[in-house]
Amino acid sequence: MSGQQTMVSTPTSARRMPADHAIHQVAEGRHRLPRVFGTPALVMLGLGVMIGAGIFGLSGRQAATNAGPAVIVSFAIAALVCLLAAFSFAELSSTIPAAGSVYTFSYVAIGEIGAWLVGWALILELLVAAALVARFWATYLLATLDGFGVAVPTWVAEHAQADQGVNWVAFATVLALGLLVATGTKLSARVLIVVVIAKVAVILFVIAVGTAYVKADHYTPFVPEHVQAADASKSVLETMLGSSGSFGWLGVFSAAAVVAFAYIGFDLIATAAEDAKEPRRSIPRSIFISLLIVTVLYIAMAAVMVGLRPYSELASGAPVSDALAAAGVDWAADVVNVGAVLALTTVILVVLIAQSRVLFAMGRDGLLPAPLGRINHSFTAPTSAAAVACIAAAVLALYPKLVNLEELLVIGALFSFLFCSLAVMVLRYTQPDLERGFRAPLVPLLPLLSTLATLWLMLNLTVPTWRNFAIWMAIGLLFYVIYGRRHSIVAQAVRAFEWGDAGAVPPRRSDDGRGGKYHGTHRK
Ligand code: ALA
Repeated sequence: MSGQQTMVSTPTSARRMPADHAIHQVAEGRHRLPRVFGTPALVMLGLGVMIGAGIFGLSGRQAATNAGPAVIVSFAIAALVCLLAAFSFAELSSTIPAAGSVYTFSYVAIGEIGAWLVGWALILELLVAAALVARFWATYLLATLDGFGVAVPTWVAEHAQADQGVNWVAFATVLALGLLVATGTKLSARVLIVVVIAKVAVILFVIAVGTAYVKADHYTPFVPEHVQAADASKSVLETMLGSSGSFGWLGVFSAAAVVAFAYIGFDLIATAAEDAKEPRRSIPRSIFISLLIVTVLYIAMAAVMVGLRPYSELASGAPVSDALAAAGVDWAADVVNVGAVLALTTVILVVLIAQSRVLFAMGRDGLLPAPLGRINHSFTAPTSAAAVACIAAAVLALYPKLVNLEELLVIGALFSFLFCSLAVMVLRYTQPDLERGFRAPLVPLLPLLSTLATLWLMLNLTVPTWRNFAIWMAIGLLFYVIYGRRHSIVAQAVRAFEWGDAGAVPPRRSDDGRGGKYHGTHRK
């Protein structure tokens, strides 16, 4: 009942969600989602969203423009930062296993405004991810069809480019995958498992085949010398140091901030907490297992890629398959293209699932409009939330300049890492007796270290990325002031307390289909 005490002692300042409310709204009531994911399926979910455009696309561009062969180190740095954050995600998801992930953790630990900010950042991360990856998907599909000699009409090819033109192929793809998500988790999970197994097999195949063709010369210089370039988009760190350009150790860190994109996804496993069997154990386990698997795969894949071809030639949209083709193994390049299409399909699918869960959690709490927080009983899925997630991403996928926005996704994710570390420290202090399925070691030292490491990576993102993120967050704050603050379910209970009803507990949003009415309940 510690949550009740928190609300009663600080009724208006923090508007924290009681932990027992966050946990029990999952176990009771009509909002419950069916529990279909065990640990293996959750690991699949993690791999499904992590292995995608980061390793198949951005790795080469970062080697060519920022880090050289040391992009291998960039992958290791990004993995370390994510591993530090993973301890916090694991502890919190084992303590508060509810849809919404770090959004719900922040609601319980920090308060409503923190939860809103982090939820809004998560929405951005997932929106950009689905749309951006869909654009790469369309390009890889064309490369695959081309590799198999299939003629594609010119008007289709013109609308399937990652970095130019209106991408109708990406639009249609997001809508099709969104339909799977909107009509039920079970179907999505089955599709996911088959595709993830296939794409991991393709990556192992690339590593095995490519190793025979690497040349030692391609690894030198390992960290190319720093090159000054006045026109390059400066990172915040470079602005602070009065420098700008590419390569050198600053370039290795800048690349680490971008390739963190490839690890985004371990954090999304926690958004499936309400779909998971025994979430207190299965979620932390799957976070660590999937993160370790991709770290090994990425470092091995990056090492093979930079060994196949001089780093300066890796800037293409399909660097891994192009590197194999350049080394004379065309047949393997075709296999990689097929693998990339499969990989990116599952990324879009899992991102849409996660986005629907975040919108569902925020709708259920009253911070977003009521229909988003409802389960469709025919599909036992949050269909309205999935429809909104999918339509928004499909429309964004049409935007021709989207491929320049990968850093926006990363900054949204890193922002949520910061809140996660903070929430672990705050909850250990304010609610030490909560049941924790997993306890992060060395608290508060480890979350503090995670905060510093995350901040360091964020400083390596560019000034325009920070500006765009600030604009997005300002829009979010405005929406919160106009809508969320007034409709918040936790706020209802705070008001009930202020009116002298000390026995009030957070009301449930009615699910009678008539929309948006709230009913306070009382402790018996
Ligand atoms: N981690 C995902 C990718 O690499 C977002 O595509």
